[in-house]
Amino acid sequence: MAEELIRVAAHWHAVRRVAVLTGAGMSAESGIPTFRGAHNGLWQRFDPMQLATAEAFRADPALVWGWYVWRMGMVRAAAPNAGHRALAALASTQPVALVTQNVDDLHERAGSSGAIHLHGELFAHRCFDCSRPAPDLPLPNHDTPLLRVEPPRCVHCGGPIRPGVVWFGESLPERAWSNAVAAVEGADLVLVVGTSGLVHPAAGLPLHAKRRGAVVVEINPESTPISPTADVTWRESAARALPALVTALAR
Ligand code: OAD
Repeated sequence: MAEELIRVAAHWHAVRRVAVLTGAGMSAESGIPTFRGAHNGLWQRFDPMQLATAEAFRADPALVWGWYVWRMGMVRAAAPNAGHRALAALASTQPVALVTQNVDDLHERAGSSGAIHLHGELFAHRCFDCSRPAPDLPLPNHDTPLLRVEPPRCVHCGGPIRPGVVWFGESLPERAWSNAVAAVEGADLVLVVGTSGLVHPAAGLPLHAKRRGAVVVEINPESTPISPTADVTWRESAARALPALVTALAR
């Protein structure tokens, strides 16, 4: 058994409340590209200022909506990986507060309930003008990222429908943020899985937890700005580390 696994399992047995913070690396083994991966990262291939801001949507709604339709299609076609399933299994034996920066629904489809989505949810569409929620829409199927697709119109005000994600320059959903802070403040152990730790305020949560006395474990094949904060840095992928933890805890 890897030394890191032995240490994480020992911490798990010693604590009462666990919180998990996940990022794009959590879904990488489901085939969803991360943002900052060197080869396939979304922000290596696309300009977030053209695709992930309110200004961009105002200037060219069909370009932005088309790009999100492409991402929604990728998520719909993907399945939760062994890491998502392991987190759901861990939460079935003891309460685990799950905070994610991911806008996909793979935690939910793996069986986790109550995930706090700090950066919104891809399928929680709403009106750009009046903010009222829009129903789950039938989406065109296309695998071309930069194909223009006119956004559907709001049934209430006729405004364009936007994806329910947090764009650059926008604030985090207030309730999600306060729930996330409460989750890490209430935890004695925080697992940080698959995030580069570059986007604040989410990236500040592990240090906040650490300062309040929690043990912080990072699961990530690469080192990040969170690594120096972590009590254990486990250089392993999410879909390998988390199932191994489930097995170790069952022994
Ligand atoms: P990033 O793309 O910035 O970082 C992904 C992290 O996952 C990196 O540290 C990788 O080393 C790690 N990783 C890759 N494969 C992994 C695997 N199989 N298992 C575990 N870790 C793996 O993604 P985030 O940190 O989630 O915001 O990015 C934060 C935010 O930046 C996103 O939520 C998004 C983006 O702009 C918004 O859209 C608002």
